[in-house]
Amino acid sequence: MKGLYIVLTCIISSLASLCVAITHNTNGTFDVLNYGAIGDGSTDDSNAFLKAWTDVCGTTIDTPTMIIPEGKTFLLQPLSFQGPCKSSNVIIELRGNITAPKDIEAWKLEYGKSELLWIQFSTISGLVFNGSGGQINGQGAPWWEKFPKNQEKYRPSALKFTECQNLTVFNSTHLNSPKNHISIHSCKNATIYNLQIIAPEDSPNTDGIDISTSTNIQIMNSTMETGDDCIAINAGSSQINITGIFCGPGHGISVGSLGKGKSYATVEEVYVKNCTFTGTSNGARIKTWKGGSGHAWNINYEDIKLVGVKNPIIIDQNYDPSVFDMTKKRSAVEVKNVTYNNIKGTSINGHAIQFNCDSNIGCTNIVLNNINITNVDKGKTNASCINAHGTYSSCYPPASCLS
Ligand SMILES: *[C@@H]1O[C@H](CO)[C@@H](O)[C@H](O)[C@H]1NC(C)=O
Ligand SMILES: *[C@@H]1O[C@H](CO)[C@@H](O)[C@H](O)[C@H]1NC(C)=O
Ligand SMILES: *[C@@H]1O[C@H](CO)[C@@H](O)[C@H](O)[C@H]1NC(C)=O
Ligand SMILES: *[C@@H]1O[C@H](CO)[C@@H](O)[C@H](O)[C@H]1NC(C)=O
Ligand SMILES: *[C@@H]1O[C@H](CO)[C@@H](O)[C@H](O)[C@H]1NC(C)=O
Ligand SMILES: *[C@@H]1O[C@H](CO)[C@@H](O)[C@H](O)[C@H]1NC(C)=O
Ligand SMILES: *[C@@H]1O[C@H](CO)[C@@H](O)[C@H](O)[C@H]1NC(C)=O
Ligand SMILES: *[C@@H]1O[C@H](CO)[C@@H](O)[C@H](O)[C@H]1NC(C)=O
Ligand SMILES: *[C@@H]1O[C@H](CO)[C@@H](O)[C@H](O)[C@H]1NC(C)=O
Ligand SMILES: *[C@@H]1O[C@H](CO)[C@@H](O)[C@H](O)[C@H]1NC(C)=O
Ligand SMILES: *[C@@H]1O[C@H](CO)[C@@H](O)[C@H](O)[C@H]1NC(C)=O
Ligand SMILES: *[C@@H]1O[C@H](CO)[C@@H](O)[C@H](O)[C@H]1NC(C)=O
Repeated sequence: MKGLYIVLTCIISSLASLCVAITHNTNGTFDVLNYGAIGDGSTDDSNAFLKAWTDVCGTTIDTPTMIIPEGKTFLLQPLSFQGPCKSSNVIIELRGNITAPKDIEAWKLEYGKSELLWIQFSTISGLVFNGSGGQINGQGAPWWEKFPKNQEKYRPSALKFTECQNLTVFNSTHLNSPKNHISIHSCKNATIYNLQIIAPEDSPNTDGIDISTSTNIQIMNSTMETGDDCIAINAGSSQINITGIFCGPGHGISVGSLGKGKSYATVEEVYVKNCTFTGTSNGARIKTWKGGSGHAWNINYEDIKLVGVKNPIIIDQNYDPSVFDMTKKRSAVEVKNVTYNNIKGTSINGHAIQFNCDSNIGCTNIVLNNINITNVDKGKTNASCINAHGTYSSCYPPASCLS
């Protein structure tokens, strides 16, 4: 009798999984609604998403697609979409919206981890995140209030892609992250385009995209209005191309900060091209901490339009010197081969070009060409240098302080 029972159970359960296979797998689309997601904006749909992901990631079908359908808003708790997947390309279509819990108390965060995260994609190759016009709302407002500036370690990042290869992200809207909106960490070859990132000008540490320990990253044709850097390129990054970004309000497109807490940091081969900064506090910025080591080499800003930018061109090799006794010699992150080509527009500050370099190491081979930055009302602007070396041509304000 027991044997028969097992056989029957097996038949029933394999029929059940066959049924599941038929509902979900026939054409390679995996709709989260078929896994029990509700999409009413208040039911926790995390488990349904994870179940759908298990099937999408586990199928050998070519380019399986996880569908997050339109007309609905899915509430997700912190969760991780884990690879590697069986298929060499996996597609996610975010046709509807995703929201975080509205109140801090409702978040089921894993505290005590080195970093707090809402949604993570980890160890996936060939992920295509097709935003399809969908929105990701991090519900950051109560977090900004409870943990203001300098307490960012208590606030989660909205979306993190880590250990990825051949990633594509496009056509999504990202709203009000508690901290930075998107992290690209330990990735090789990512292309990100047509994004819209929106957070209030006074929201703390709401960077648009943070890149670290990654290589061959392209970010294109996107609009970013944030309370901090539109894009920050951090330690361990190389071959970073950024084009067609409208940034502002925000803190500009920055390399760094590098070398915090005496760390070793390198950034190489950065091309920022055809970008517009409107009402930002900085434009083209490189910032490194005193006491750090490593280098920022071959950083290029080209075809940049400025509209009322506070500090359009700035290198700060003494970022936040308050932690050091400035009378003592310290190491610094080397800044070398930085070019600014065709940068035009207005500054709200007279101080359009600032190279505040380390008095010991300095910045070398800074090249300025075809620059015209005028003051919004008075017209006149100036340049200042501390231990900055390089050349300039067709440059207003004249960078005659370079040596
Ligand atoms: C694929 O299958 C799903 C579920 O069975 C169905 O809803 C969808 O319409 C199908 N799509 C196509 C393109 O056939
Ligand atoms: C998704 O968010 C956008 C912007 O807030 C909104 O226009 C749209 O109606 C939302 N969709 C749903 C299904 O709530
Ligand atoms: C992205 O998804 C939309 C539907 O949500 C589809 O129409 C579009 O073709 C997709 N884009 C790409 C490049 O696959
Ligand atoms: C980068 O990823 C894209 C998308 O998967 C792929 O088409 C392209 O060939 C990859 N490039 C390299 C250099 O691997
Ligand atoms: C990335 O894409 C390139 C080009 O299509 C391919 O050769 C490589 O194997 C891919 N990498 C991974 C890890 O899938
Ligand atoms: C992105 O969205 C726009 C507008 O909805 C659409 O025209 C475009 O085809 C989409 N791009 C891709 C690659 O799907
Ligand atoms: C970015 O915009 C430029 C100019 O409109 C266009 O030529 C290019 O195809 C776009 N790239 C992507 C990836 O959408
Ligand atoms: C990045 O930009 C540089 C300089 O314009 C160019 O040589 C390189 O091919 C670009 N890389 C990619 C992957 O587009
Ligand atoms: C610069 O970027 C903007 C916005 O994406 C685009 O409309 C324009 O065509 C681009 N210009 C060039 C020369 O690529
Ligand atoms: C800096 O640029 C010069 C050419 O101007 C080049 O010879 C040198 O290799 C570059 N340095 C680094 C570290 O790439
Ligand atoms: C440059 O302009 C700023 C702001 O207008 C002013 O504070 C500073 O003293 C000027 N520096 C020089 C060297 O003229
Ligand atoms: C710099 O820009 C100002 C304001 O647009 C303009 O009046 C001036 O002629 C420009 N100078 C050069 C050298 O292009």
